[in-house]
Amino acid sequence: MTSNHAVLHLVSQLASTAYDSRSLMAETVRLLQRERPHYHWVGFYMLEGDVLVLAPFVGKPTEHVRIPLSQGICGAAASTGETVVIDDVTADPRYLACSLETRSEIVVPIRRDGRVVGELDLDSDVPAAFTADDRALLEQVAEIIGAKL
Ligand code: SME
Repeated sequence: MTSNHAVLHLVSQLASTAYDSRSLMAETVRLLQRERPHYHWVGFYMLEGDVLVLAPFVGKPTEHVRIPLSQGICGAAASTGETVVIDDVTADPRYLACSLETRSEIVVPIRRDGRVVGELDLDSDVPAAFTADDRALLEQVAEIIGAKL
């Protein structure tokens, strides 16, 4: 498996060459799924007022294209500014289902100049798929992307 370090290097390269923030997001979700195949759904949500709006993603289409800050795991991560890791989505009443196969989820806030402007959301069909190592990787990805928005 490609190391976190190598994946971060690839993301940094995308950040310095991408045409705009939209294409940076689109290329980043593709890269993450290619490098970590157990990331079954990878997408960005960007904050518009108090609603999270779906941005580039890979995986099955989701009905959750607009999520109020007060709802879902996505809303919890953006409103607290903290990464949320859910090992078993069926056990969390906040969870908004995107696919019936999903078993675990991580949502990482993205900051620009210290303020939350969006988030990186990942689902896996594998229970407890997101380890401390995944979290470290994804928080650094969010930092690289946030600096480019
Ligand atoms: N599961 C998220 C909703 C987004 S879909 O997973 C793509 C949530 O509970 O906020």
